[in-house]
Amino acid sequence: MKILIKNGLVVNADRSEHADVLIDGQTIREVGADLAAGPDFRVIDAGGLMVIPGGIDPHTHLEMPTPVTRTADGYDNGGRAALSGGTTTVIDFVNPKYGQSYLEAYDVWMERAAKATCNYSFHVTVSWFNDEVAREMRTLVEERGVNSFKHFTTYKGSLMLEPEQMLASFALARELGALCTVHAENDEIITYMQRKLLEKGITQPRGHVLSRPPIAEGEATYRAIALARIAGAPIYIVHMSCEDALHAVVRAQAAGQEVYAESLCGHLLLDESVYFNDDPEIAARYVMSPPFRSAEHREALWQGLADGHIRVIGSDNCTFTQAQRNLGLDDFTKIPNGAPGLEDRMRIVFSEGVAKGRLTPEQFVAVTSTNAAKIFNIHPRKGVVAPGADADVVLWDPKKQHTVSVKTHRHAIDYSIFEGMTFTGSPTLTILNGDVVFENDLVTSNPGQGRFIPRPPRQRIPPCHS
Ligand code: URP
Ligand code: ZN
Ligand code: ZN
Ligand code: ZN
Repeated sequence: MKILIKNGLVVNADRSEHADVLIDGQTIREVGADLAAGPDFRVIDAGGLMVIPGGIDPHTHLEMPTPVTRTADGYDNGGRAALSGGTTTVIDFVNPKYGQSYLEAYDVWMERAAKATCNYSFHVTVSWFNDEVAREMRTLVEERGVNSFKHFTTYKGSLMLEPEQMLASFALARELGALCTVHAENDEIITYMQRKLLEKGITQPRGHVLSRPPIAEGEATYRAIALARIAGAPIYIVHMSCEDALHAVVRAQAAGQEVYAESLCGHLLLDESVYFNDDPEIAARYVMSPPFRSAEHREALWQGLADGHIRVIGSDNCTFTQAQRNLGLDDFTKIPNGAPGLEDRMRIVFSEGVAKGRLTPEQFVAVTSTNAAKIFNIHPRKGVVAPGADADVVLWDPKKQHTVSVKTHRHAIDYSIFEGMTFTGSPTLTILNGDVVFENDLVTSNPGQGRFIPRPPRQRIPPCHS
């Protein structure tokens, strides 16, 4: 299919220009003034609209098994949610079961994702490390298109990795040209506080936020950054939610360490008071880690974004139905953790960021697409509207209002934590791999239309010899 997008404002992370965009097959061929269409072109008028690179959400958990259940959104409906909100690529997580071959886990995830309606790629979680895992990590990087590994400092007994193993994984990742990502929360603080709260009879969802104070995140972030520094490895902190963690990041960045931080759309929007709702079923809907924080932390995150310390906004889309949430109604530690965001991530960033004067349109593109493409090494194939880039393109109406409702959202859950909120700025049309897959509020991408995006190793950093 050939498409000519006329009269739009092309917004990239570094600049904006009034230009036409010519798409031929799966590739952007030309960006420039007054481009001419051939007879077999579809011409789309983008007057008054922004033309932006398809969003990249580098943090999703679609169809992810947990010890007792699995996340509700799959690669089919989750992809449709993404496309309707302007996101064309997700980077999801492969979580090997304890003792399982990492390569086998990767194959299982690839099979599940074969029905994806948007493009996808994978991080792999390292929850234990030994020589065999090291060999498999090498194969994942060299032959399977994985260039990032996730490490947990909490969830002892399932996902948590001990610090000495984390150091070993970081050192190997450095050698392989892979990026270490870390979920940073101090497990000892959380476990201690959970026990104290339950002993006092605080079993309701509010115990979740009370047991995960900002300092638990700050400490773990500082420690993860210290380990990365010793290993000489770049590090990416996922879902950073508070000022305490931001301080650790800013300090390391100032010292010249390669440290990236991602925050979530939900953390930029929602307040910790949601956990104190009198109806425990409603309060349980917001249980995710780290928890939503106070206004002071949200303001720190917005400042961190504007200053460039936080480079990426993800969603951490990890959805559970009300019935799944209710598994923990009499004990907050049993509520499955996670929240939606894949569908509304870009709208939240635009509405709260650009429409409120906190971010420029270029910064919006940077934090929702371009920076993730660069950090996870798929730039300039992704994350930019330029000749030669993949034709993942979104027409974004900066004035269009969108009100979130469980009746119209594409998440496979029976409530929305953004219910009734109206956001300013929304996509009107989404192009995936050169095909129009969303327009007139309809997603037409079919299962399997999403493609796997292999990510090559980053520039290898040679081992230290000093
Ligand atoms: O609570 C959360 N964030 N659940 C998803 C898994 C993770 O820790 O990222
Ligand atoms: Zn996490
Ligand atoms: Zn996550
Ligand atoms: Zn050296």
